[in-house]
Amino acid sequence: MEVSSRFVLLVVLILIAVLAKQSLAAKHAVGGSQGWDESTDFNSWASAQTFKVGDELEFKYTAGLHSVVELANESAFKSCDIGTSLNSFNGGSNTIKLSKPGTRFFACGTSGHCQQGMKVKITTAAADGSSPSSSSSATTPPSSPGATPSTSAASSHQLRFISFFALVASLVVYFI
Ligand SMILES: *[C@@H]1O[C@H](CO)[C@@H](O)[C@H](O)[C@H]1NC(C)=O
Repeated sequence: MEVSSRFVLLVVLILIAVLAKQSLAAKHAVGGSQGWDESTDFNSWASAQTFKVGDELEFKYTAGLHSVVELANESAFKSCDIGTSLNSFNGGSNTIKLSKPGTRFFACGTSGHCQQGMKVKITTAAADGSSPSSSSSATTPPSSPGATPSTSAASSHQLRFISFFALVASLVVYFI
């Protein structure tokens, strides 16, 4: 294959992979490569992310040193009121699913860490990208009679596979 058509194919395949990935549920490693740690700037991390229904948060940290607590509301978040936690997690690796639109608040349960900035506010948009307030209109109508909610999950996995395949194919094509 000549170089120019190989390049066009590469671009097309990458474009497909990117478009497919955007419509998929994503897993967000909280804090990026730095993870769930006092030194991470969670405000800038979170503002660079788009959280959609079906996405997952992945907290990675040193077990025993840190933990994850979900706080009840914004005021508890602002005042680092760890005692009002809705949920708490430990063990060094926790995956939390963003199952509905809205805002959730997480902090470290270790004394003093929240005050040092180890907290993050996650605002989840509906899966189609509309704002959390319009959640009632955001549910996808069934595409066929008898369609179940699991249909979208299955197609999401298929899309994920397709995007992965497109990426691998583009790399293979690029290097032959
Ligand atoms: C926030 O949550 C705490 C604990 O559940 C509760 O006591 C408080 O009234 C709540 N504040 C607001 C503004 O909802």
